[in-house]
Amino acid sequence: MVRLPVGIPVVALLASVAAFGPGLMPPPASRFTSPLPVVGDTLVAPPVLVNLSKAPHTVEVNLTAGPSRLALLPGHVTDAFAYNGSVPGPTLDVHEGDKVIIHFTNNLAEKTTIHWHGLHIPADMDGSPLRPIRAGQRYDYVFTIPRGTAGTYWYHPHPDVRTGYQIAKGLYGAIVVRDPDDPLPASLPEKLLILSDNRFRPDGSPDIAPGNSPQGRVDEENGREGNVLFVNGQVMPTIAIRTGEVQRWRVINVSAARIYRLAIPGQTLTHVGGDGGLFERPVEVEDFLLANSERVELLVRGAGAPGSRTTLQDLPYDRYDPHTRPADWEISRDLLSLQYLQAPAVAPVVIPATLRHVERLDTSRVAAHREIVLSQGLINGRMMDMHRVDVWSRLDNIEIWQIENVVTMDHPFHLHGFQFQVLDRDGVPEPFVSWKDVVNVKKHETVRFAVRFDDFPGQWMFHCHILDHEDHGMMGILQVRLPPSRGKK
Ligand code: C2O
Ligand code: CU
Repeated sequence: MVRLPVGIPVVALLASVAAFGPGLMPPPASRFTSPLPVVGDTLVAPPVLVNLSKAPHTVEVNLTAGPSRLALLPGHVTDAFAYNGSVPGPTLDVHEGDKVIIHFTNNLAEKTTIHWHGLHIPADMDGSPLRPIRAGQRYDYVFTIPRGTAGTYWYHPHPDVRTGYQIAKGLYGAIVVRDPDDPLPASLPEKLLILSDNRFRPDGSPDIAPGNSPQGRVDEENGREGNVLFVNGQVMPTIAIRTGEVQRWRVINVSAARIYRLAIPGQTLTHVGGDGGLFERPVEVEDFLLANSERVELLVRGAGAPGSRTTLQDLPYDRYDPHTRPADWEISRDLLSLQYLQAPAVAPVVIPATLRHVERLDTSRVAAHREIVLSQGLINGRMMDMHRVDVWSRLDNIEIWQIENVVTMDHPFHLHGFQFQVLDRDGVPEPFVSWKDVVNVKKHETVRFAVRFDDFPGQWMFHCHILDHEDHGMMGILQVRLPPSRGKK
């Protein structure tokens, strides 16, 4: 691995490292060449959690969060945190209808939780800051994956105040929920891409600035961004593709604050799904935003010639307040190299024009309209209080939530436990219906969504998913009560 002093845009330099197939000349502009020709993928998928159960439709796994010595920055072994010793953590790969049992052990020297971001599961199992797991303790997370929720999710710690810190130290992992009747052809090669960024000290340890330092104050406002960008913990890995091939990519943004504008220059991408699973129909896009904690499913078509290569890029996107906007925000950053194999083209697979039906929430019978105002670090003018309920609701209610951002930076708004449907943004109707659990509310934008509080009473978090904002109290509590006829809760 190339060692570079911290502070140099490592990614920009590594972007020119060539990975070329047999018989190919390196691109002439390249300053570096790969020591060996890369024939296939260098992108490594995280390990998959091993199912210990023999029972049908049951997934039983062991998951431990603990200190670990590993290289978050390639070539620099450091003190990190890891799930089962790996960063990213192992993938939880399950099917709709599965009963999932996770025997969790907290081997950290501090409290933590695991939040199953986006899953519709009981409140006790949600891993919110209300249910911390103390150092050395164990807890069994047990839940059933609802039907109709196939999609890409992720898990991460969610302790009070320390979420950003624990994720920066290495705690995050993917969840893939599969549909036994998936409408997309099973022959499509599937790739998981977990996008993260981090900032390092010269020794390769994560540089997490103290809150009272100048950098710490910028991070608190802007959200902590890193200058090294990773896919599955790797810098600029390669995905090999054949001309004509269609691949299915599941992409997750686990960055604390970076919002990605993803594109592969020179070709369109087929956007087939979001946070809560597949759309009704595929949508062709040139580029798209992926805010913090959002997920997408993409079909990537092998449009290039055999032997050619291209890159998945993060294009500039101005989410920033003018006062804390980084000087280099207008740089496009390379994330991953797409290498076309020296092989004859394959015939493209036919993608169905209709993927599934997405039930529309009935907004003619809305039980409540909520107004949520996002200002810098505050929700409705207040900081989070673990002992205060901010919104009282009832089971089965359909509600419309209006999220208004009154400041000059974006805030991605996340609701725990329930998928919602965006209705409009600044009054402009959403072009199509989809299930989401986070929506980026841009500077001075107002977004409205409909949500139905199905199945699970209890207390649920809603918050900004910029981790520095969340940790500093930009969060509130929703209490979903049973209807009077079903007793109190
Ligand atoms: Cu990704 Cu409160 O969660
Ligand atoms: Cu925010």
